[in-house]
Amino acid sequence: MGLKRGANTHVSVSRRQPKHTSRIYFASVLLLLLFTPIADTSWWYIGALGARVICDNIPGLVNKQRQLCQRHPDLMQSIGEGAKEWIKECQHQFRHHRWNCSTLDRDHTVFGRVTLRSSREAAFVYAISSAGVVYAITRACSQGELKICSCDSQKRGFDRDDHGSFDWGGCSDNINYGISFAKAFVDAREKMVKDARALMNMHNNRCGRMAVKRFMKQECKCHGMSGSCTTRTCWLAMSDFRRTGDYLRKKYNTAVEVTMNQDGTGFMVADRNFKGTMKNDLVYVENSPDYCLMDRTAGSLGTAGRVCNKSSRGTDGCEVMCCGRGYDTMRIKRVTQCECKFKWCCAVECKDCEDVVDVHTCKPHKRPDWLDLT
Ligand SMILES: *[C@@H]1O[C@H](CO)[C@@H](O)[C@H](O)[C@H]1NC(C)=O
Ligand SMILES: *[C@@H]1O[C@H](CO)[C@@H](O)[C@H](O)[C@H]1NC(C)=O
Repeated sequence: MGLKRGANTHVSVSRRQPKHTSRIYFASVLLLLLFTPIADTSWWYIGALGARVICDNIPGLVNKQRQLCQRHPDLMQSIGEGAKEWIKECQHQFRHHRWNCSTLDRDHTVFGRVTLRSSREAAFVYAISSAGVVYAITRACSQGELKICSCDSQKRGFDRDDHGSFDWGGCSDNINYGISFAKAFVDAREKMVKDARALMNMHNNRCGRMAVKRFMKQECKCHGMSGSCTTRTCWLAMSDFRRTGDYLRKKYNTAVEVTMNQDGTGFMVADRNFKGTMKNDLVYVENSPDYCLMDRTAGSLGTAGRVCNKSSRGTDGCEVMCCGRGYDTMRIKRVTQCECKFKWCCAVECKDCEDVVDVHTCKPHKRPDWLDLT
């Protein structure tokens, strides 16, 4: 307990600032409660709760989640901070797509309101949010921020590889703790019902948890005279969350459509020609809308006003992004730094240059003529 990465491995760790409760906290929770409709998966809202978590006030937690929340408020704090990260990662992965993982609120820490049903996009969101919980908790364990866990000091002893022998030591990321807590907390909601959607969510949650584990890497520190590396100490650490995001994004592309089997205990792949297992694939039940038009019940914001790329043939191209509705072009002046010169010593001096660029944005949907008659 209390073992911190860095204690014996000299990896620098940026400890977070002590957690102070801001005075406006209660006000913001109240506001959140007033304006937050109960969404399908409400632990996502934890990210919006800021510096402190009051378990009774998080809308839509199921009992088991509320109990875990009360027992481990410090873990909820980590989950909340993690939520901001996975939402950002989701938006990064889908920035060039009609569906862009955005929230409907001005407050980007709140992911909700958009119902995603059982679509491919829902599969991705469940997976990356579970992965985000694993990541956040595991990291907080290693940084010594949580009472219940620390880094994994079980991993001790000697080993050898092509470069010689080394100790396992220091502080490995305790991914197994992260995974088991994420499983208990996130899956709790799905365990209450037995339907296709719950099964789908649990499957995708698991994919997300495992995706983080997949990118654990060995890190080492050399000892010996002037870095000669005659002896090494190694430990296992998580990779950057981007790798998990990239991986799950690929899994989104190849997600598998499934249907519930007769007795409701599992699902089958819809395509009879599908070969192999879907153990590591994302699965979905419902086809996605095209996300061209605003349809809140389908989780679609539409693409009116989205920036598109005139010369791209891909999903960010104006043709695809605007669904054939066409686009508006705005000429805007842009100031950039240019003609940078290195000045002895030691500065870089640049000029401000202006150039003009065209920005294209998708036209809104034209209302059918019969609507204009009234
Ligand atoms: C995503 O799309 C919505 C609606 O089309 C838009 O309002 C929002 O700014 C976009 N978000 C990002 C992060 O690009
Ligand atoms: C637009 O798409 C083209 C072709 O894919 C690419 O080369 C270019 O960098 C893109 N422009 C922007 C601003 O993203």
